[in-house]
Amino acid sequence: MKEQLEKIKLEAKCSLEKATSLEEINELKVRFLGKKGELTQVLRGMGQLSPEERPLIGQLANEVRDELNSLFQERVAAIKKIEQEQKLQAETIDITLPGKTFARGSNHPLTLVIEEAKQIFIGLGFEIAEGPEIETDYYNFEALNLPKDHPARDMQDTFYISPDIVLRTHTSPVQVRTMERLKPAVPVKIICPGKVYRKDDDATHSPMFHQIEGLVIDKGIRMSDLKGILLAFVQQMFGPDRRIRIRPSYFPFTEPSAEVDVSCGICGGSGCKSCGNTGWLEILGSGMVHPNVLRYGGYDPTQVTGFAFGMGVERIAMLKYGINDMRLFFENDIRFLQQF
Ligand code: PHE
Repeated sequence: MKEQLEKIKLEAKCSLEKATSLEEINELKVRFLGKKGELTQVLRGMGQLSPEERPLIGQLANEVRDELNSLFQERVAAIKKIEQEQKLQAETIDITLPGKTFARGSNHPLTLVIEEAKQIFIGLGFEIAEGPEIETDYYNFEALNLPKDHPARDMQDTFYISPDIVLRTHTSPVQVRTMERLKPAVPVKIICPGKVYRKDDDATHSPMFHQIEGLVIDKGIRMSDLKGILLAFVQQMFGPDRRIRIRPSYFPFTEPSAEVDVSCGICGGSGCKSCGNTGWLEILGSGMVHPNVLRYGGYDPTQVTGFAFGMGVERIAMLKYGINDMRLFFENDIRFLQQF
């Protein structure tokens, strides 16, 4: 019986080595280790052995079975590996072929200007505020010292959602919203970039455009503070050689009010075609916050003063990049957008 076991072991080993596929191995497994397999047959005959022989042969049979089992396992693993290698070799991927290139997007020029402006104002100690684009008549007009019958409302005719709800015509409502949020704390020092809407549509006006509002309130704020902040902004945005000019103007929510121009980047201020021979280009409206507006916002105009400004982002971008038609910003022409 001992010899029989050794023979089975040897035969199984030899056949295993020759086997080249998983099917063959399976067949061998059945042949040697299966229920009706050769090893099992031998074990069946154990009953005829003497009581002394039985444990010895039993032990040997177990050893043979264990050894064969692990041989089978090894062989299966080896064949699987070979099959995998063959599969990989059969695959013909040419890794030297050029890959698919994806068109890379870029930031819209208006986004670039807004981001740059934010960084400049953050550097000057401002915080970023926000307000809704769908605004109440109260914040858009009333609390900015523009009562219902005020003639200056004509300048900013807009899209009415209901008699009391409008698409905001400017970012100035955020002035009052911010004051209500922060009162009575000073200093207030915020800018608010955002979309605004007006009933205009031509080469220099779009029904939707962007503004950046600025508001500063503190004890003793003066017009010279406004000039200093705006000069610092303009020189960082357009270049250190730029100057600003302040002209009297009118807004119901500032008193006094001023329009601010930047010196022309092409002629340097002497006058040329692109600045209409004036040497200056208008970029924003501004002024000292009207006492009524401070009161609407919850501040005491006998204690604090402030300045505010509102600039057109499209206008800044047109000047910065030399763009002559505002509609280009919104037509989504890839040839235009790719340049930024
Ligand atoms: N809101 C004004 C406009 O849209 C600009 C402005 C803002 C003027 C703040 C003065 C102060 O025309």
